[in-house]
Amino acid sequence: MNKYIERFSTSERVLHWIVTGSFFTLLLTGLGLYSRLFHGYFSLFGGGQVAILMHKIMGVVFFFSSIYMFLNHKKDVSTFDDGDWVWIKKYGGYLTRYGNHFDIGKYNPGQKLFAVFIAAATLALGISGIFIWFPLFFPRWIVQFSLLFHCLMFVGSIMFVIVHVYLATIGNPGTIEAMLYGDVRKIWAKKHHPKWYKEVTHDNP
Ligand code: HEM
Repeated sequence: MNKYIERFSTSERVLHWIVTGSFFTLLLTGLGLYSRLFHGYFSLFGGGQVAILMHKIMGVVFFFSSIYMFLNHKKDVSTFDDGDWVWIKKYGGYLTRYGNHFDIGKYNPGQKLFAVFIAAATLALGISGIFIWFPLFFPRWIVQFSLLFHCLMFVGSIMFVIVHVYLATIGNPGTIEAMLYGDVRKIWAKKHHPKWYKEVTHDNP
């Protein structure tokens, strides 16, 4: 009997890794733009001018790929059901020693919050980025406010992404297989997303 079920198609995984690649390139090129302390990172891209160009190109790539990724799974991340509320009331079971069993669909509320935050941050970073990119076309206060807002949204995003990477790797073993190979073990699906497992396989976990 097959031990695996499909969680993400190839195109969904390619899209996720494009978002990830552009996000981390923006991080490395952006740090150097933010402070002299990080100018060393510019050498990874062959100098400041290339790094700035990369930041603009990757900004456009990240904006469209991230919004497209959100629109792709908008239905799964924007609705809450009873199982989600129980998960929230028990803090996802993270604050107890004993494993809780939650009736969770494709994503848990923490993942939904992350996906919605990243979509909102993408819009905010993209719009403020336009003002910073073309400073002469806009009033000075808008450009200055955009610089501050761009940095704040970035700090928020990186904090969420650090938690996301931890939970998707060492925090919940087996999860990374979903984004690497597209398939997850049935035993993983029954444990973390039993409602989704039932919908996909019509089995009772
Ligand atoms: C090395 C970095 C990353 C790793 C290892 C990683 C891993 C994963 C994995 C394994 C999943 C599937 C979770 C599941 O099936 O339940 C996932 C989903 C997702 N990832 Fe990532 N990811 C990374 C970076 C990013 C970045 C930079 C973003 C956005 C800025 C992002 C956004 C998302 C979103 C929106 C989802 C769907 C919702 C969720 O599972 O939270 N990921 N990621």
